Amino acid sequence: MHVSKSLLFISMGLTLSVQAETITRDNGAAVGDNQNSITAGSNGSVLLQDVQLIQKLQRFARERIPERVVHPRGAGAHGEFVASGDFSELTRATPFAQKGKVTPVFVRFSSVIHSKGSPETLRDPRGFATKFYTDEGNWDLVGNNLPVFFIRDAIKFPDMVHSLKPSPVTNIQDPNRFFDFFSHEAGSTHMLTWVYTNLGTPKSYREMDGWGVHAYKWVTEDNKVNYVKFHWQSQQGVKGLRPEEVAEVQGKNFNHMTDDLYREIGQGNFPKWDLYVKVLSPKQLGDFDYNPLDATKMWLDIPETKVGTMTLNRMPDNFFLETEQAAFSPANLIAGIEPSEDRLLQGRIFSYADTQMYRLGANHSMLPINRAKTKVINHNQEGAANYGNTRSDINYQPSAHLDLAEDEQYKAVNTQLTGYVQQKAMTKQDNFSQAGVLYRSLSKQDKTDLITNLAGDLGKVSDINVKTQMLSHFYRADKEFGQRLTKAVDGNLSDVKQSAKM
Ligand code: HEM
Repeated sequence: MHVSKSLLFISMGLTLSVQAETITRDNGAAVGDNQNSITAGSNGSVLLQDVQLIQKLQRFARERIPERVVHPRGAGAHGEFVASGDFSELTRATPFAQKGKVTPVFVRFSSVIHSKGSPETLRDPRGFATKFYTDEGNWDLVGNNLPVFFIRDAIKFPDMVHSLKPSPVTNIQDPNRFFDFFSHEAGSTHMLTWVYTNLGTPKSYREMDGWGVHAYKWVTEDNKVNYVKFHWQSQQGVKGLRPEEVAEVQGKNFNHMTDDLYREIGQGNFPKWDLYVKVLSPKQLGDFDYNPLDATKMWLDIPETKVGTMTLNRMPDNFFLETEQAAFSPANLIAGIEPSEDRLLQGRIFSYADTQMYRLGANHSMLPINRAKTKVINHNQEGAANYGNTRSDINYQPSAHLDLAEDEQYKAVNTQLTGYVQQKAMTKQDNFSQAGVLYRSLSKQDKTDLITNLAGDLGKVSDINVKTQMLSHFYRADKEFGQRLTKAVDGNLSDVKQSAKM
């Protein structure tokens, strides 16, 4: 280490002597002058041999990496998950193996559409992604603060996100574009109703629930399968900003959610969430008017069981290293948790690691925030920024020289199939009834706020056909909902009723 002459600090009348370290170039050699470039004489040009100058400018110009294509704005925190019982009758997943079992976690909360420096007051679903560093590898539960999603098939995701992101012409988000898309996706009615409640503008990250949205499979040691949905219930309660509060907060501090998280955890006021699961046996999947593997649906009327509690108790030391470089993926599953056949989830299984190879590089799983706490032996080789520590020359399997094998107990569970390879829309779509259930469950004030929020954006739509189609979706969800909304956007109710019949 290079140590320069001691510095004197004068503080509260005391004179302190501190040994300052000397700054270095990238090769570790000490820097003599970090204030003046090397020039040819007092009025001459700067010399190419000024390695310190060149290194600083080069490295500075490469500080940015691509922002996440969705969910770019976020804040993360470390913590732990404690199981509330032994759930081995439902899953062999190790975080649920015994009461009191502790699993370290890292959570990243985020908004979805708006860019990295955007105001946290903008309406959006919010991401709620949890990385469990389990003793059988990392499990990521990558969810949102709302229980359902806009679409049911991954093939529509890029179209949907294009319509919600700023226009490629004006670079401004435009309700004309996203309502044009959603007017063709009746399945979005339920999620749009959620997003336009005040939960689309949460008061803080601490005061949001989290939802896994999709069904997953829970598998036991003896390969018994059940379908489950996950739900994080905030012990802080769930609060959204009312329409007039949004404007007020935005005018004062549009980083309110990140600020709140750093402040509350910094003061030792650790937020907690209870994790609940809903369980369906494979036989029960056929028992509903809707498809339980459709991500636009909740499993209403199925009871929840509490399986543990998470506490967030430490903020990252460095935002970029931990929060920005965190890579969550629904493909990061562990023994006892498998994907269901949900078409949206199946697309997500591919998409996350793919984008992360672009955003962070092929070796992103080696970064400290992403690295499993267990030994990783995968024969991956080389690639940019590889700092693995393989010392063996046997980087293939099987080999007569290395006793490394797969283990049968970790094979995918058998699933019986019938039918044809096909390309067809999901049956039993039931696009409107759960949106109606949600509307009717709201308080008087929440209903009024929902109408105000939704009419604000729908009122900006200039294409009368798009507007009428959207209104007819909400009318079909609930007559009163449709009528009040139509009045609020100054539309013609007879057109809406006509569209709703079609
Ligand atoms: C982030 C794709 C649906 C929750 C992302 C990212 C992609 C993506 C590419 C950026 C990842 C990164 O750069 O690290 C998709 C696709 C979907 C889909 C293709 C549908 C087919 C969903 C759904 C949910 C969700 C249904 C909630 C249940 C999240 C969250 C993040 C995220 C929370 C941010 C993770 C973080 O904090 O780093 N998604 N997504 N996504 N997605 Fe999705």
